Amino acid sequence: LSKIEVKLADIPEGRNMTFKWRGKPLFVRHRTEKEIATEEGVNLGELRDPQHDKDRVQNPKWVIVLGVCTHLGCVPIANAGDYGGYYCPCHGSHYDASGRIRKGPAPLNLEVPFYEFVDEDTVVVG
Ligand code: FES
Repeated sequence: LSKIEVKLADIPEGRNMTFKWRGKPLFVRHRTEKEIATEEGVNLGELRDPQHDKDRVQNPKWVIVLGVCTHLGCVPIANAGDYGGYYCPCHGSHYDASGRIRKGPAPLNLEVPFYEFVDEDTVVVG
């Protein structure tokens, strides 16, 4: 399937769920208020691939990214690593709760796919 519909009510706050989309893992993360505040406050000067959190999300509660490490393509683990977002165990890349690379060998942030909210509780990716 080229598009996937995700029901957001099934994902509790603080959790990341993994879906399969176009043969790749797709992460949908329901952020907490604390995570939102932390990521919105990050100074872009600290970032290897500088991108404001606001340019990576349509609704700050929801982070939607490909679960493919930008180093060599392993699947990162959610809610792990030094920045609390994602950790790739293959060679130790740490991503924040916006999916931005913060430490380790990966060069780029986790990729944000095209998606649209069709209503408050449903997002279509692809
Ligand atoms: Fe993720 Fe190498 S593939 S750190």
